[in-house]
This record gives sequence, structure tokens and C-alpha cells, in this order.
Amino acid sequence: MKGLLIFIAAYVLNCEGAVIVSEKKRNVLNNRPIIGILSQEQSFYLHSKYPEENYTSYIAASYVKDVESSGARVVPILIGKDRSYYEELMRKINGVLLPGGATFFNQSNGYADAGQHIYEIAQKLNDVGDYFPIFGTCLGFELLIFLASGRGKEENRIRCYSYSNVPLNFTQDYRSSKMFKGTPSDIIEILKTKNVTVNSHQFCIVDENLNSHNLTHDWLVTSHSNDDHSVEFIASIEHKRYPFYGIQFHPEKSAFEWKRSKKYAHSFEAIKANRYFMDFFVQECRKSQHSFASASEENRYLIYNYEPHFTGVLGSAYHQCYFFEPRGTVSNN
Ligand SMILES: *[C@@H]1O[C@H](CO)[C@@H](O)[C@H](O)[C@H]1NC(C)=O
Ligand SMILES: *[C@@H]1O[C@H](CO)[C@@H](O)[C@H](O)[C@H]1NC(C)=O
Ligand SMILES: *[C@@H]1O[C@H](CO)[C@@H](O)[C@H](O)[C@H]1NC(C)=O
Ligand SMILES: *[C@@H]1O[C@H](CO)[C@@H](O)[C@H](O)[C@H]1NC(C)=O
Ligand SMILES: *[C@@H]1O[C@H](CO)[C@@H](O)[C@H](O)[C@H]1NC(C)=O
Repeated sequence: MKGLLIFIAAYVLNCEGAVIVSEKKRNVLNNRPIIGILSQEQSFYLHSKYPEENYTSYIAASYVKDVESSGARVVPILIGKDRSYYEELMRKINGVLLPGGATFFNQSNGYADAGQHIYEIAQKLNDVGDYFPIFGTCLGFELLIFLASGRGKEENRIRCYSYSNVPLNFTQDYRSSKMFKGTPSDIIEILKTKNVTVNSHQFCIVDENLNSHNLTHDWLVTSHSNDDHSVEFIASIEHKRYPFYGIQFHPEKSAFEWKRSKKYAHSFEAIKANRYFMDFFVQECRKSQHSFASASEENRYLIYNYEPHFTGVLGSAYHQCYFFEPRGTVSNN
């Protein structure tokens, strides 16, 4: 009798143990996340400062620093590569940040084409239970919606104008969203009442862009802001099934961009509230278990292989930039 009880107890404990182990395995966080940041076509302005090097693409260093500040390392993702480049890289990294900038979506082999590879590959990974987050900031957010709309001849965004620090007007059910359900209430209060989200865009996504392309089924709007002429645009959004997130404003500029004429929000509260967005995204990326094969393989890809240039002193709105693939001074293969 006693033996039987012990046997049953051991059996129950074992089974519970087994459940706990497999739950843990699924929920275990990867505390060494590595995030890819997509580069974009070299800007005309920066090309004029580096004509000899004739770089193919760049990443503003503020995005790198913002991700690093949240406890992740960064790998640059180049534009103009074929599908297999993005597939192979995305098997090693834990998420992708689509940064803001000022490139067009209609240039072949550029930011939008690379973004489309990444978006489609990430959908496939998530569809088979391989958690893979994407975060789009400003142009990157517009790119997510442009891609979700099926590209199309008419770009699914409108002209607008916002070069101001403004508050977020949260939607009624924003607290049920993935992005904001765990946000500390003091940060929500700052975002809601203070002019801390930095805007710098001439295109907007408005509710009508979602309605006209049947996107409300898949995407949840969590806040709006008003542009400089009171046009109400979508300030934050997330996909309902995939871990895909977009914001129209620039959290990275508060702490890391300093051009005086831009009047970016640099107050204690602005820094504190804007910190939240990459903290959130990096935590999402910790749910991905992808990894490089070895430390030496990581080292070959990490952004530490490149040196940021002090572009603020050259008049750029970006204080520092990383540049990739010089075409003027090296051969093209
Ligand atoms: C830069 O490289 C592109 C592509 O190779 C080439 O078409 C262009 O002429 C180059 N420009 C300069 C200024 O070297
Ligand atoms: C690309 O798009 C921009 C606006 O987004 C437009 O001004 C430009 O004419 C387009 N170029 C081509 C080649 O279609
Ligand atoms: C905030 O959004 C609500 C609708 O969700 C709207 O009625 C209200 O006017 C907006 N407030 C501002 C300041 O734009
Ligand atoms: C935010 O900016 C608007 C427009 O410049 C201004 O009217 C408002 O007073 C500002 N709000 C705060 C809390 O500073
Ligand atoms: C809208 O999209 C959803 C799935 O994303 C689909 O089930 C629905 O039929 C679509 N509706 C229309 C009117 O296209």
C-alpha cells in the first residue's frame, strides 16, 4: 500500500515535472539577443560628403545605440541582396528593426525590396511557430503597412507634415495590445500628456488607409497623433497575430540625435518614455531562440566591424552614421 502511494506520488511528480520542463523550454528567454537593422540607400546629402567612397547604404547610429541600450547587439542588414541572404541571416538573428529615413519605396533592390523579403520570411517563420519580431519606426512603419497592403502602384499612405514633438492619443482598448499592456502607468501618463514623441515625416498612415485595404482585420491601432495641420495619423500599430510592431515617431532621437534646429525632445521625461519602445522590442526578440553557430561567426556579422562616422559635424541630421559597401574604392564583387 505504502509502496503503491509512493509509486503514484512519483508518477504524478514526474508528469508534472515533465509539463513544467516543456513549458519552461518554450518560455525560456534568450538573454543574448542579436537584432538586425536594415540599412537603406545612401542619401544624396551623405553621398555629397563621401563621393569617393560612394557608399551603397547607411544606418543612422541612433538606431543601433537605442537597441544596444536595451540589452541587445546589432547586425547590419544590407540592401540589394537576393532572398537567400535574408533567409540565412534571419535564421541567426532574433528580430529585425526597420528604421526610419528618407528613401523611396519604388527603387529596385533597395530598402523596400529588402523589407519585402524580410516581411515574407518573418511571416513564414512565425507561421511555423518560430517567433520572429519586426519593429518599424517612421518609414519602417510605413513600409510595414505598404507591404501589408500588397505594395500596389498607388502607395497606401498619404502626404502629411509633422515635424513636432506631440503626445499620443491612445485608442480605447490600447491596454489590451501587446505593446502597451505591460507599460508602466507613469510612462503612459508621459506619452499621453507631454510633448515627447518626436515626429519627422511627410507621409502618414491614417485610419482610411487601413479601411481601404482591409487591414483592420489583422492590424490593431493603439494610438493616434495630429500632424502640424491637425491631420490625425496613426502613431502606433501592431499586427494581431504576428509580433510585428510599428510607430510613426522616433524613440531613438530623444537620447541620440542632437541637431539643434530640430528641437528634439530631450527632457528627463522624454528620455524615460522613449526608452520604453526598444525595451519592449528587445524583450520580444528574447523570445526568439535563433543563434549564430559560434562566437566567431557572431563576430563576423556584428556591427562592431564598422566604425560610425561623425556626420553631425558635416551638417547631417544624423549625429553618427554607419556606411556600407563602398562602390567607388573597392571592386563590386
Ligand atoms: C557610384 O556608384 C554607382 C554604382 O556603381 C555608379 O553608377 C556611380 O556613377 C558612382 N558615383 C560616383 C560619384 O562615383
Ligand atoms: C517614386 O516615388 C516617389 C514618391 O514616393 C515619386 O516622386 C517618384 O516619381 C517615383 N519614381 C518612379 C520612378 O516611379
Ligand atoms: C483622441 O481620439 C479620440 C477618438 O479616439 C478623438 O475623439 C479625440 O478628439 C482625440 N483627441 C485629440 C486631442 O486629438
Ligand atoms: C504641446 O505642444 C502644443 C503645440 O505646440 C502646445 O500647445 C502644448 O501646450 C504643449 N503641451 C505641453 C504639455 O507642453
Ligand atoms: C479581409 O481580410 C480577411 C483576412 O485577413 C478576410 O478573412 C476577409 O475576407 C477580407 N475581407 C474582404 C472584404 O476582403
